[in-house]
Amino acid sequence: MNYKHIYHAGNFADVAKHVGLVYCLGALQRKDAAIFALDSHAGRGYYDLQATEAHKSGEAERGIQRLIETSLAAAPLADYFAAIHARRGKRLASYPGSPALIAGGLRAQDRALFVELVPAEARAAEREIESLGRVRTEIGDGYAALNAFLPPDERRGLVLIDPPYESLDELKQMLQAFAEAYRRWPSGIYLMWYPIRSASQRSMVHARFAALRIPKMLFADLAIHPDDAGVGLAGSGLMIVNPPYGADDYLTEAYAAIHAGIATPGAGYVEVARLTPERMAQ
Ligand SMILES: C[S@@+](CC[C@H](N)C(=O)[O-])C[C@H]1O[C@@H](n2cnc3c(N)ncnc32)[C@H](O)[C@@H]1O
Repeated sequence: MNYKHIYHAGNFADVAKHVGLVYCLGALQRKDAAIFALDSHAGRGYYDLQATEAHKSGEAERGIQRLIETSLAAAPLADYFAAIHARRGKRLASYPGSPALIAGGLRAQDRALFVELVPAEARAAEREIESLGRVRTEIGDGYAALNAFLPPDERRGLVLIDPPYESLDELKQMLQAFAEAYRRWPSGIYLMWYPIRSASQRSMVHARFAALRIPKMLFADLAIHPDDAGVGLAGSGLMIVNPPYGADDYLTEAYAAIHAGIATPGAGYVEVARLTPERMAQ
């Protein structure tokens, strides 16, 4: 595998995904009962934004660093900015990956499991966040972990599935693994990230999710470049299954704020809508 998230950490897609993640974690914690979070493709705890790779790609520069400059006062992003410790006039030295965001948001009664295939990344996650307790890191295949660790004893919680999409059949693999996980744990909140490269590819991704015939799917898509512009990543999508109450309105506002802060002027869009209804017709 060639994928290295350090090139992409803190880009607009990471921001969009993490805004959804922080919201869902917070929503689950409206009740005192313990929650479980499973991050199947975890990466490491923190990404050094001074590293050569991050400089070379410039993605964090055009993503989170720019958003902090333009939009720190945007009300819908307040919880997210607090979670990443953004401060007025300060550039971020490092950007938290999903394990750091999840671990940082857990209460004493909550638990999380981070699964990562690349040993060096998993060890970094372990080193950087294990000390907080309540979390465990496993080296291995995230799809297998969905099978092994669901449903959790807590019965409440979320699953983040955030693969690198390096191989052509990654979407197929993710949908299969998700469908099986959902069968085992239909009440969990699932967040699945997907790239948006063109209008036709985006429609295909939506259609493939819809074909699973699983109810309560909400998609939140954010594009910051024109569709079909030929750039690697025009946009970023998050499919949320069993979204918490309020997620539709919240994500519409939050993604609009991200778009206003960092999109190429006049380009892109925000679309947040239900893909499948509350109940599937027989
Ligand atoms: C997009 S990155 C994860 C970013 C992270 N979730 C975040 O939001 O900060 C994808 C990660 O999945 C890892 N990976 C690739 N294939 C995997 C697999 N089958 N199981 C678990 N991890 C995998 C990669 O090494 C990489 O660290």
